[in-house]
Amino acid sequence: MVFFADPEDVRQILSSHTLLSKSKNYELVESWLGKGLLTSANEAWRRRRKLLTPAFHFRILSEYKEPIEENCKILISRLREKANGEQFDIYPYITLFALDSILETAMGIKKHAQMQSESEYVKAVETICRVMHKRSFSFWQRFAILYRFTDAYKESAEALKVLHGETNRVIKLRRQMLEETNIHNMSDAEKSEDIGGKRRLAFLDMLLIAQMEGGGLTDREIREEVDTFLFEGHDTTSSAIAFCIYLLSQDEHVQQRAYEEAMALQGREKESMRYLEAVIKETLRLYPSVPFYSRKVQEDLQIGKLTVPKGASVSTLAYMVHRDEKNFPNPEKFDPERFMVAEKDLHPFAFVAFSAGPRNCIGQKFAMLELKLVLSSLLRSYEFLPVKDFKPNPLAELVMKSGNGIQIRIRPRS
Ligand code: HEM
Repeated sequence: MVFFADPEDVRQILSSHTLLSKSKNYELVESWLGKGLLTSANEAWRRRRKLLTPAFHFRILSEYKEPIEENCKILISRLREKANGEQFDIYPYITLFALDSILETAMGIKKHAQMQSESEYVKAVETICRVMHKRSFSFWQRFAILYRFTDAYKESAEALKVLHGETNRVIKLRRQMLEETNIHNMSDAEKSEDIGGKRRLAFLDMLLIAQMEGGGLTDREIREEVDTFLFEGHDTTSSAIAFCIYLLSQDEHVQQRAYEEAMALQGREKESMRYLEAVIKETLRLYPSVPFYSRKVQEDLQIGKLTVPKGASVSTLAYMVHRDEKNFPNPEKFDPERFMVAEKDLHPFAFVAFSAGPRNCIGQKFAMLELKLVLSSLLRSYEFLPVKDFKPNPLAELVMKSGNGIQIRIRPRS
C-alpha cells in the first residue's frame, strides 16, 4: 500500500481514467455494501454511475431542501433541552438528524429516528465500521476461513442483520407506495403530483421505476445502492457537521461572522453562502470525513519518482494532503480565510475531501446543501461555547469520527 500526500501525485491518481478500481481493502465492506457504486469497478461501475447521476442533479436537489429543513426544525427543538450552557455530546443528535434527512430525501421514507433517543441502525453502522476497521489491520482475520471463528464475525453478522433488514424494509415500503399511486413508469411518475403523500421523486423511486421499465438494476443491485447511499449519505455528513460545530465553538469571531451571514441569507441557503462554505471546507480540510481512499494498480505505474508495482494499492491520504504547508501555511490552524481566495489561487488538488476526477463523490452537492442548511439554522438558534480542555480524538475508521464524541455547550440566541 502506498500513500500519497503531494497534490501533484494526487492529481495523477485521481484524474486517471484507467486507475478506477478500488483497492483490496474495499472487499471488507462487500458483505455489507455488496458491489454498490462505492465498491464496484469497470463496466458495472460505469453503468451504475450513469444511472444514478441524474438523482443528484441540481434541479432535483432543490426538491430535497424542504424535507431537510423540516428535519433541521426537529433538531433545533430536540436541542432545546440542552441549551443551558452545560456540557454534552452533540454527536448522537446530529447523526439521527442526518439519517432522517437521507431517508426522507433519497429514499422517500419518513423514519423519525430523531424522535427516538437512539437508533438500532446507527448503532449497527458504528459496530460494522469498528469491526471492519480492526479487521483491516489484522493479518490473520483477513483470511475469511479464520475470521468466521472470531467474536468480531458474530458481532458483524448481528449488525448486518439490522442493516440489511432496514434496507429491505425501506425498499418494500417505497415499492408499495409506487404501486398504490399507480406508478409503473417514468411517464406515470411525471404526471403524478402525489407520491407518498407529497411530491417529488426520490432517488430510490428512480431505481425502482427504471427496474419496472426493464432497463434498470436487479433487486440485489438496488439493495446494494440503498445500503451504499444510506451509509455514505449520513455517516460522512454527521462527522462533518459535528466537527464544524466543534471548530465554531473554538473561535468566536468565525462563529459571529458565520452567524451574521446565516441571518442575512435566511431562506436563500441554496445560493452561494461564501463564508459558511469556506467554514465547511476548512472543517473538511482539518477533519476530512473520508481520511484516505485507495485504488488498485493494474499495471506498473510511475507516480512522481516512484514506480508502484502492479497489484499494489495507491491511496490518497486526504488528511495529509490537507496539511501540506505549501498550500496551507500553519496547517493545524482553523482559518476559513484560506477558502475565501479565488479558486484559481489554490492548487486544484490541494483540497480533496470529496475526491476528484471520474470517481469523485456523487453526493457532494447534496452534502453541501445539507451542511449549509443545518449549520445556518443551528447558528441562528444557538451559540456554540467551548468545553474547557476538550479536544476531539479523530479515529480513521471507514469514516473519520471523534472517539470521545463532540463535547460542546450551547446557549439560545436572544
Ligand atoms: C461531507 C460529506 C461527504 C464527504 C466528505 C464525502 C467524501 C467522499 C469521498 C472522498 C469519496 C471517494 C471515496 C473513494 O474513492 O473510495 C466519496 C464517494 C462517494 N460518495 Fe461521498 N462524501 C460525502 C457525502 C456523501 C453523500 C451525502 C452521499 C450520498 C447522498 C455520498 C455518496 C457517495 C458515493 C455513492 C460515492 C462513490 C462514488 C463512486 O465511486 O462513483 N457522499 N465521497
